[in-house]
Amino acid sequence: MRVLALSGSLRPQSLNTLLLHEATHLAPEGMEIRLWEGLDDLPHFSPERDVEPPPPAVAELRAKISEADAVLVCTPEYIHTMPAVLKNLLEWVVSSGAWVDKPTAAWSASPSLEGGARAHGSLVHTLEVMSARVVTEASRCLTLAHSGLDEAGHLKDPVQVGRLQTALAALAAAQTP
Ligand SMILES: Cc1cc2nc3c(=O)[nH]c(=O)nc-3n(C[C@H](O)[C@H](O)[C@H](O)COP(=O)(O)O)c2cc1C
Repeated sequence: MRVLALSGSLRPQSLNTLLLHEATHLAPEGMEIRLWEGLDDLPHFSPERDVEPPPPAVAELRAKISEADAVLVCTPEYIHTMPAVLKNLLEWVVSSGAWVDKPTAAWSASPSLEGGARAHGSLVHTLEVMSARVVTEASRCLTLAHSGLDEAGHLKDPVQVGRLQTALAALAAAQTP
C-alpha cells in the first residue's frame, strides 16, 4: 500500500514534518509512506491559473495523489485553523478530482494542549467538501505539550507511538479493494 504524506508546514524543523518521518518508521508491514516535499513550489492558487498544462509542482502533486492508495496529511495550527499553504495545496487539487474517494488520514500536531484540534477540524471539513474519504479511525490530534520528539525526531511517549501505529493500521484497513 502506497501512502502519500503531506505536511502543512514549510519549516525545516517542523514538528508536523518530523511526525510524518516518524510515521514512515511506524507503518505496518506492507505500507510504504512517502513524503512529498514540493509544498513550497506551489504557486498561489487562482482559478484562472488552473489551466492545462498546470504548473509543474501542481501536476506532480496531482499525479502523486492519484497514484497513492491513501493520503496522510499532518497540519500545524495557525490562528486556530490550518496554515494558508496547506489550504492553497487543497485548492490546487479540487478541479482535478484526484482526492475524490481517496482514503485519507488527517493528523494535526501542536505544542499546545489541544494538539491543533481546530486546525484538524478545518482540515477534515475541507477534505470532506472535496469528497475525500476521511478515515476517522486513522485521524489524530497530537499534543506535544508534555512530551515531544527527541533529538533524533522520534516520539518520546510510547502511548503516542501506539496511537499513531493504531491510526496507520486503520488507514491500511481502509484501503479501497
Ligand atoms: C502565526 C502563528 C500562529 C499560531 N497559532 C497557533 C494556534 O492557533 N494554535 C496552536 O496550537 N499553535 C499555534 N501556533 C504554534 C504552532 O502550532 C507551532 O509553531 C508549531 O510548531 C508549528 O508547526 P510546525 O512545527 O510543524 O511548523 C502558531 C504559530 C504561529 C507562528
